[in-house]
Amino acid sequence: MEIRMSSPELTDADREAVNRVMQTPNLSMGPEIEAFERAFCALTGANHAIGVNSGTAGLHLCVRAAGVDVSDLVITTPFSFVASTNVILFEKAVPIFVDVDPLTGNIDPDLLRKAVEDLSLGGEAAQKWLPRRLPAVNEGGLRAVKAVLPVDVFGQPADYDPINAIARQYDLAVIEDSCEALGGEYKGRAAGTLGDYGVFAFYPNKQITTGEGGMIITDDQDAADLMRALRNQGRAPGDTWLEHTYLGYNYRLDEMSAALGLSQMDRLETLLQHRAKVADWYAELLAGIEEVTPPQIVPNTTRVSWFVYVIRLSASVNRDRVALILEEKGVPVRPYFSPIHLQPYMRDMFGYQPGDFPVTEDLGNRSLALPFSGTMTKETVASVCQRIAEAVASAGKTA
Ligand SMILES: Cc1ncc(COP(=O)(O)O)c(C=O)c1O
Repeated sequence: MEIRMSSPELTDADREAVNRVMQTPNLSMGPEIEAFERAFCALTGANHAIGVNSGTAGLHLCVRAAGVDVSDLVITTPFSFVASTNVILFEKAVPIFVDVDPLTGNIDPDLLRKAVEDLSLGGEAAQKWLPRRLPAVNEGGLRAVKAVLPVDVFGQPADYDPINAIARQYDLAVIEDSCEALGGEYKGRAAGTLGDYGVFAFYPNKQITTGEGGMIITDDQDAADLMRALRNQGRAPGDTWLEHTYLGYNYRLDEMSAALGLSQMDRLETLLQHRAKVADWYAELLAGIEEVTPPQIVPNTTRVSWFVYVIRLSASVNRDRVALILEEKGVPVRPYFSPIHLQPYMRDMFGYQPGDFPVTEDLGNRSLALPFSGTMTKETVASVCQRIAEAVASAGKTA
């Protein structure tokens, strides 16, 4: 039995939906993307949805729509997938990291407030939030905080009430990276709608897939118009094919992908329920292993959208050895996340060092993402859990 890190849950209806597009001449910018976008407005209540060809592209367009410019500051966290930071760097703005809540891995709103307050004061107060060094392009001087980019880590929304309160007070845009949280809820409100802009992603390990793809949602008409133009090579409404009002990108989602996504959206509830069942099995079958802490869901999360199943090992357990043993036993696992500030290019650009964000690093050092998808059977989950118990017992302690 091959155990995979993740598997998309595909049906004949999905395959037929893609095939139907293949019988038409409309392979891009046709009816499928429009219907796919409408499905997101219907699901979330957002006024506008803009389909794009990746979650990264979606986040990048939100950064552009928020008016983030060279040397502006954008506050985000280093406990994420690199794209949430990279989209800030694409605009030569400066990501300012704050550490995360140890339970959820989401941005710590108290630290966020402190950072925004200190950065608005400037001088020494601001200095402690800045990286050790800056890329040459930013050396002329940093500007003010322009936006906050919280990440809904592993399908659990961040704590948006305090985040939005700070953002309103200081006139900051809130870009919700909901790439991992389609279908999640915070205090009964849909993930993706919790800031000014929300972005979902549809890589094959996600709750729904389009192969590659993403979706932006927002209530802001002007921003939506701009992002539609930017995804389509900067063509504003009224521009001809060879007129480009803005510097834009090709971030369009093709019709085959949109058709697959739309077909998956029809089954979203079922897909989410399958994933929740697998998460329940993991919780039940890991319960006896003392060194393993399951994912922590906080009361504000009225619905978690299970994207991955990430356990934490006790600090005394040699996590890397456990990972190695599991791989040898045919169980793929990933240390997840690997902190962004310690990626080689981030150390190079900003001089980050181990110890800079201790909660992120601790989570990064102790976490393991287990094989996870809605297609897993209880038997497979049981066999993974059995091997985890064996691996933990034989891995030995950290030095
Ligand atoms: C938190 C987060 N942000 C952004 C992305 C980027 O999405 P994509 O891979 O579709 O560009 C991902 C995808 O894995 C993600 O997990």
